[in-house]
Amino acid sequence: MSIVPPPPLVGRATELRTLIDAVTRPPAVVLVEGEAGIGKTRLVRAALDRLPSGDRAVLLGYCHQIREPFPYGPVFEALRDIRGRLPAAHRLNPVIGALRDHLPELDGALPPSPQPLDDPRAERHRVFRAIRALLAAVGPAVLVVEDLHWADDGTLDLLRFLAGQPPQGLAVVATCRRDGVTGPPLGRAYRHQPDTTSVVVRLTPLDASGVASLAGALLERSDLSPGFVTRLHERTAGIPFVVEELVRSLPASPPGTDDPDALDRAVDRAGVPLLLREAMAERMAGLSPAAAAAVRAAAVLRLPADERLITAVGADPAALSSAVLSSSAFGPSALGPSALGPSALGPAVVSPAALDPAGQGLAGPDSTGPGPVASGAAGLAEALRAGVLHEHPGGRYGFRHALAQQAVYDAIPGPERRAAHVRAMAALAATDAPPLVQLAFHARQAGDTDAWVRHGAAAAQQAAALGDTALAVEVVEGMLDDPDLPVRNRGPLVLMLSRFAATGLSHQRVVRLLRQVLRGDFLSRGVRGEVRLNLGVVLSNQAGDAAAGRPEIMAALAELTDRPTLAARGWASMAMPEWGAESLAEHAEWMARAEALVATADNPELSAAVLANRASFEMTTGSPGAFDVAARLPADDPRTGVRREVARAYCNLHDSATTVGLYAAAERFGREGRRLALETGAQYPAFLLDASTIRREWLTGRWDGLRDRAASLGESATETPLVAVDLWLVLGLLALATGEWEEAVRQFHRAGLDAPEARNVPVVTAAAGGLVDLHLARGAVNEAAAEAEAAVARLRRKGVWVWGAGLVPPAVAAFARVGRMETAAELVDEYAAGIAGRVAPAAHAALDAAQGALAAARLRHADAAAFFARAREAYAALPQPYAAARAAEGEAGARLALGDRAAATGFREAAETYGMLGATHDAARCRRVLRDIGVDVPLPRGGRRGAGTLSQREREVARLVALGRTNREIADVLFLSTRTVETHVATVLRKLGVRSRTQIAPPA
Ligand SMILES: Nc1ncnc2c1ncn2[C@@H]1O[C@H](COP(=O)(O)OP(=O)(O)O)[C@@H](O)[C@H]1O
Ligand SMILES: [Mg+2]
Repeated sequence: MSIVPPPPLVGRATELRTLIDAVTRPPAVVLVEGEAGIGKTRLVRAALDRLPSGDRAVLLGYCHQIREPFPYGPVFEALRDIRGRLPAAHRLNPVIGALRDHLPELDGALPPSPQPLDDPRAERHRVFRAIRALLAAVGPAVLVVEDLHWADDGTLDLLRFLAGQPPQGLAVVATCRRDGVTGPPLGRAYRHQPDTTSVVVRLTPLDASGVASLAGALLERSDLSPGFVTRLHERTAGIPFVVEELVRSLPASPPGTDDPDALDRAVDRAGVPLLLREAMAERMAGLSPAAAAAVRAAAVLRLPADERLITAVGADPAALSSAVLSSSAFGPSALGPSALGPSALGPAVVSPAALDPAGQGLAGPDSTGPGPVASGAAGLAEALRAGVLHEHPGGRYGFRHALAQQAVYDAIPGPERRAAHVRAMAALAATDAPPLVQLAFHARQAGDTDAWVRHGAAAAQQAAALGDTALAVEVVEGMLDDPDLPVRNRGPLVLMLSRFAATGLSHQRVVRLLRQVLRGDFLSRGVRGEVRLNLGVVLSNQAGDAAAGRPEIMAALAELTDRPTLAARGWASMAMPEWGAESLAEHAEWMARAEALVATADNPELSAAVLANRASFEMTTGSPGAFDVAARLPADDPRTGVRREVARAYCNLHDSATTVGLYAAAERFGREGRRLALETGAQYPAFLLDASTIRREWLTGRWDGLRDRAASLGESATETPLVAVDLWLVLGLLALATGEWEEAVRQFHRAGLDAPEARNVPVVTAAAGGLVDLHLARGAVNEAAAEAEAAVARLRRKGVWVWGAGLVPPAVAAFARVGRMETAAELVDEYAAGIAGRVAPAAHAALDAAQGALAAARLRHADAAAFFARAREAYAALPQPYAAARAAEGEAGARLALGDRAAATGFREAAETYGMLGATHDAARCRRVLRDIGVDVPLPRGGRRGAGTLSQREREVARLVALGRTNREIADVLFLSTRTVETHVATVLRKLGVRSRTQIAPPA
């Protein structure tokens, strides 16, 4: 509806080309950066206009300064009109059904909704995947998200997710102001895929000639004086928006435009904002009072608004009938019970209906009589004609640019501004579904503190109830940040915030804020305890930082003496021995405390939760009574909440039984756990189960395709850093078995060695065992011994020796290799004593293996052979075929030292088992020994699948070449000479028909 035509695009040729290039070469991620008014929107529009029409879908979404709850609003907004581009619902990826509630516009076009999940993080991840799948289904598309600087955390997370792995046909274009302080708006997590085009287009101000072209186009003149142009350039800093507004505010006819001094007279010597204000004031001066009132109303409303609202807010108070003012919605009776009264201590989330203050019989602004309404409508029309206001989609009116809105707003005198905000509150409160965030904003600006706090709290709760946690957090955070918030209102808001955080989304800011709040002293003891408990849980779980979270939980427990239910949960979580540096005895004491508190409370869900922790406590420590405790879990309880705790218990039991080597039992717990988790919608335990299943498969020798399974599960684990450690551990161990040292080290660190004190102790212990083995394999015996020493010390402090199965045998070998026989022997004794009487078959097998290693180091080969033989049988019975092969190799080594001819058979069998598993490095080691003792070992011919006619050895070589290893490195890993490796590489190149080693892809 703009009457003033936009000037043609000035300059920006390079930027435009870059942008079009990226958009037409998806997948692409483009960030258009630059200050307000620099021309970001304009550039993007210009690029879109130049795309061949119908070439690809153009999806537009906007972030706003103020918004009402609508999770991922800017993206969903962009997805509204894609119906015509989608294949039939039954051909869409079923996960897309998760978007039904978010996209009512597409209702019939989407697959059915899946079952809801109990965990907000899992739910969110599913929504993200669904959005990606939907965008993939749309085909070639450009998703434009405007004004990222106003995006909420949820939307940013979503965009990071999409930018991390965009669908093939998608180009994501975001515009964003740059303040130079914060990091990249798509975050550090913004790691693009190698095949994703990724560009940042940074817009800088126009130069003098650009300013001249722009002004010339606006004034339809090509003869502007150089002095005028120079001055204009200086004054406007080359910002196109300011140039435009300034030029439009100049007297319509010469001499103004020819006369540099006139420009000087027209503008102030101050900076751009003031200049803009003057320019806007100039344009306002040309409007009738009614039109100016409409413009000011639009500025006060900040968001584009409909005619009714603009008229109501713009109405001159003096002209209003008393009806509107006397019935204004912020009167104490107008809203329900205070959201921050005692009821705020109830559930963190209340239904939006309970907060709905609509239908209270307020006189709407329509009752203000025909006078102001009529003149308001005329005023609005005039403002539109003059191009000061613009029509936005949906019959709403606002400014063309936020800078203009700000400039007009700043120029309204304080008292008038306040009165306008009061009118805005009244008018908004009278609507069918009053927008609570806006109400809170206007109340704040009107200086009505009570209404502000009330609406703000209600807005946050409503947002949380609608699943928009990011907004909920933002609203509360904004209030807490405001120095005008009365102290008495802080406590309840902090508590509310801590509960939002416990749902797991948007945790980073919350953690910072809660910490800050806890340093102050305005919270009561009980509230403090709960806030701190929530903080500790968020740190431990969502942030994956147990070292930071556990001390908070401990401190909270001291404050929660009057809140037994919360305290029981706190103690039960502290009691899990897998975490923290405390000894088992301390954990046992905490477990007992939790149980004592539960005994006094009649709370079945809590009892089930504590019993669940007790069961896995017993199982993971190899306690003989573990199965009896597990049998007491109320799996058939009629209450879903209780069964959900049992689901968690079974999934944890799968994990603990796997750790101690009870694989059949683990599988049973896993099956039951999965069934219950599905039935009760418990997503997090199911994910834990998936991850520990990968570990069980590694242990029990199901290595076929395991690397891919672990890696792909790891990709969806971004929300659950704690659970993913199992996956990294397995990836590390698999890399170790194929001699990929760097990869193995990297994965072991991810699995917990990067911060061993803060991670899951059994997993860290296993990772340390892997690293010790790795050092030994590379001959780095001192590093091996040092790593072993540190890991053993951690295990000793914890006192749960049954977790040492993966660590103790290599540790003993490492100590022996550096000549510390005493240390090795003491460790074996200590381990034996530590696992005595424990139900932990993996640990007992490992004790035999450790004794074998010690005997071998002492050159007692007959003893060594016997111990290794026992270990081999014990491992085979578990089953742990890889560990069994290691024991068999040890046994064969001892027999070889004894001069026993049967040694060759042992090495050959071990090599075969390794080969079958895919432990190529281990297999090569055995074959080298066989070669050394003059036994020829033909390798099986041909590959398992793919890779044409490569022999097994060639496949191994090809794989390492594809990983970028040099011939020298390959020779080391496969125990061959470099010469032999060269021959193999040549054969591989010939067979694959490629010319250089960089073209060799890893065999499947
Ligand atoms: N290169 C340009 N040529 C002509 N006009 C421009 C140019 N860049 C920006 N403008 C004008 O300046 C104003 C502000 O631009 P806009 O794209 O809305 O800024 P941003 O999105 O960066 O805040 C718009 O009216 C736009 O038409
Ligand atoms: Mg813009």
